[in-house]
Amino acid sequence: MENLTPNPKDLDPIELASRDEIEALQFHRMKRSLKHAYENSPFFRKRFIEADVHPEELKTLKDIAKFPFTYKQDLRDTYPFGMFAVPQNQLSRIHGSSGTTGKPTVVGYTKNDIDTWANLIARSIRAGGGRPGDILHNAYGYGLFTGGLGAHYGAERLGCTVVPISGGGTERQVTLINDFKPRVIMVTPSYMLSILDEFRRQGLDPRKSSLAVGIFGAEPWTNAMREEIEDAFDMHAVDIYGLSEIMGPGVAMECVETKDGLHFWEDHFYPEIIDPATGEVLPDGEMGELVITTLTKEALPMVRYRTRDLTRLLPGTARSMRRIEKITGRSDDMIILRGVNVFPTQIEEQILKCEFLAPHFHIELCREGRMDGMIVHVECAPEGTDQDARAKSAKDLAHRIKGVVGVSSKVVVHDPHALQRSEGKAKRVVDNRPKE
Ligand code: DLL
Repeated sequence: MENLTPNPKDLDPIELASRDEIEALQFHRMKRSLKHAYENSPFFRKRFIEADVHPEELKTLKDIAKFPFTYKQDLRDTYPFGMFAVPQNQLSRIHGSSGTTGKPTVVGYTKNDIDTWANLIARSIRAGGGRPGDILHNAYGYGLFTGGLGAHYGAERLGCTVVPISGGGTERQVTLINDFKPRVIMVTPSYMLSILDEFRRQGLDPRKSSLAVGIFGAEPWTNAMREEIEDAFDMHAVDIYGLSEIMGPGVAMECVETKDGLHFWEDHFYPEIIDPATGEVLPDGEMGELVITTLTKEALPMVRYRTRDLTRLLPGTARSMRRIEKITGRSDDMIILRGVNVFPTQIEEQILKCEFLAPHFHIELCREGRMDGMIVHVECAPEGTDQDARAKSAKDLAHRIKGVVGVSSKVVVHDPHALQRSEGKAKRVVDNRPKE
């Protein structure tokens, strides 16, 4: 694979700034942002007054801990525009988060917000190994979801030629990759696996494709999955993180030269890690829930937003901004099975270690008598379809899950292509337990 370390002169100066410079900028911006939220968003003003705190009380960055948390439920309670800090006629765009049921949570952007977002995505694509002039195949969904349009504007800003294919139509995705020869692809990792299958179905060698860089995010994925994709396509696979409530993709990004976690773009967002049970701020290095305060957002400033995403903060490496470790999962996706916490990413990791299994899976939760049970549905690899190989794989996986994760599970090995494929974010957990 190509060495894609960027030339330092191509980076934004702040990417190379000292910690002192970054923190001075953060403090200045945080003060301004809290004042903006207090003065222009009735929601935040009320929240601050209820918590008996005023933006003037921010004397150091750490004082942010005095301010109240904001939750996804707050966006639902104020649906659609109740949290905005600018009048509607100053909004350039609306997006929504991919809620599974009912109304989406609505977020808005001013012209400046869209501009900042494009700059941060451009910075992210460059960190991932993309360059001006590259053809970029954008298979994130276009629409209310922030993935498609977010990536699109940033790719254009960097100077790429964007193919706005969106998600779905897997056969056509492969045709266009072959015909247009993109160097970069942006897509969810689970959909990349569907694209990989389609390459093979069409008898094409994915290692011979033009793809050199894949920028994958919007759902948790593991380093084992990175190896699988890098090996299959002979390309770099890097991680991009973000959420609509804060902006969309491009809040944090992994650098291709280190692939050691995601640099948090600290000039625009302030991260904290808290103990999700007590709300207490944890020191860098400790695992907990990521909480984010926006520093420059105009339309929808966010103060201490509870992401539910579990990770830890690490010092900078390829850039001076701190990193977050690859997200283990969301606290809402955590399965508690007979007292043991289980994340779908842990199951993914074990599946990728089994010789005759393909990384297409979902987890079914069921009730066995009075106990909760877990069934892992997974596909066998095309070379492992005979009964013996299947039985061996099922046993092997159940054994690994018991050994590493600590729970007993039933494994059902399906035919290749039997499980529903993801075209965006994969749904990993199906809860079939009777409702109480
Ligand atoms: O998924 C934004 C996005 C689009 C990110 C494209 C990256 C690429 P939402 O639909 O609001 O926004 O979902 C946000 O997705 O809180 C995480 O739980 C999860 N998530 C996003 N990126 C990652 C990642 C977009 N790299 C929610 N690793 C977040 C793990 C991720 N989880």
